Amino acid sequence: MDISSLFGVKGKIIVVSGGSRGLGKMISTGFVTNGAKVYIASRDYKACLNTAAELNSLGAGKCIPIQADFSNDEGIASFASKILQLEPAGIDVLINNAGVNWAEEIDTHPISEFENIISVNVTGVFFLSQKLIPALEKRGTAENPSRIINIGSIAGLAITKKKSFSYNASKAAIHHMSRAMALALAEKNITVNNVAPGFFDTLMMAKALEADRDGVVRSAPLNRLGRPTDIAAVCIYLASPGSAYLTGSTIKVDGGTTIKSKI
Ligand SMILES: NC(=O)c1ccc[n+]([C@@H]2O[C@H](COP(=O)([O-])OP(=O)(O)OC[C@H]3O[C@@H](n4cnc5c(N)ncnc54)[C@H](OP(=O)(O)O)[C@@H]3O)[C@@H](O)[C@H]2O)c1
Repeated sequence: MDISSLFGVKGKIIVVSGGSRGLGKMISTGFVTNGAKVYIASRDYKACLNTAAELNSLGAGKCIPIQADFSNDEGIASFASKILQLEPAGIDVLINNAGVNWAEEIDTHPISEFENIISVNVTGVFFLSQKLIPALEKRGTAENPSRIINIGSIAGLAITKKKSFSYNASKAAIHHMSRAMALALAEKNITVNNVAPGFFDTLMMAKALEADRDGVVRSAPLNRLGRPTDIAAVCIYLASPGSAYLTGSTIKVDGGTTIKSKI
C-alpha cells in the first residue's frame, strides 16, 4: 500500500493525442516527470518536436513526437500502425485528449464546423481507441487493466457557455460513449474513464479568457482556473494501479463550476 505501488506510473507506455500543447502537454509533463514513456501526437509536427524536446530535458521518462491527424480515417490508421510497430509488446494507456471547439450563434452555426467537431471529438476518439485495442490488450491484466482515458468536458455535463452547440453535443457524446466502451472492453482487461475539465488556460480558451478572464475565473467556486497539476494528477490517478477498479466513470476537475447553474 505504499504510494508508488498505488499511484506510480514509472515505465508505463502512454499515448496522448493532442499532446503538443494545452491540457495534453500538461498531462504529458506529469507522466514524463514520473518516469513514463509518452508518445505525443498532433497535426503540427514542429510543435510536437518542441514539446518533446522540452519534456525530455526534464529527465525521468521519455517523450516521443509523432505527426498525426485524428479528423479522418487515414490519419488515425497511419498513427495507430506506427504505434503498433514501435511498441510490439503493447501500450498501457491511451489518453484521447485531442479536441477542437467552435462557438457561433444558433442560426449561423456552419455544418462544416459541426462535422469537424464531431469527427475529431467523437469519431476520432472511437476509432483511435478501436485501432489501439490490440496494443492495450497486450499489457492489461485482470489485476491491473490497461486504460483508456477520454478527455471530455464539463460542457458535456452542463451548459457552461452560450453558442457551443456542436462542442456541447460532442462532449456529452464522448461521456456516454465511454460508458458503452467501458462495458465492451472490461472483458479485454481495459478500463475506460472520462475526465471532465472545467476552465484551463489553453489556446482553446484564449478567446473566452481575453473577453472576460475574471468572469471565467469567478465561475469556479474555488475562484481560479485549473492548473497543470490539477489535470496531470487526475490522469496519473486514472493510469495508476490505484484506479484499477474504476471503469465507466467521469471525474470532474472544475473547481466546482458545475455546482452552480448560472452561465
Ligand atoms: N482548456 C479547457 O479549459 C478545456 C476544458 C474542458 C475540456 N477541454 C478539452 O481538453 C482537450 C484539450 O484541449 P486544450 O484546451 O488543450 O486545447 P488546445 O490547446 O487547442 O489543444 C488541442 C490539441 O489537440 C490537437 N488537435 C486538434 N485537432 C487535431 C486533429 N485533427 N488531429 C490531431 N490533433 C489535433 C492540437 O494540435 P494541432 O492543432 O497541432 O493538431 C492540440 O495539441 C480537448 O479535448 C478539449 O475539448 C479543454
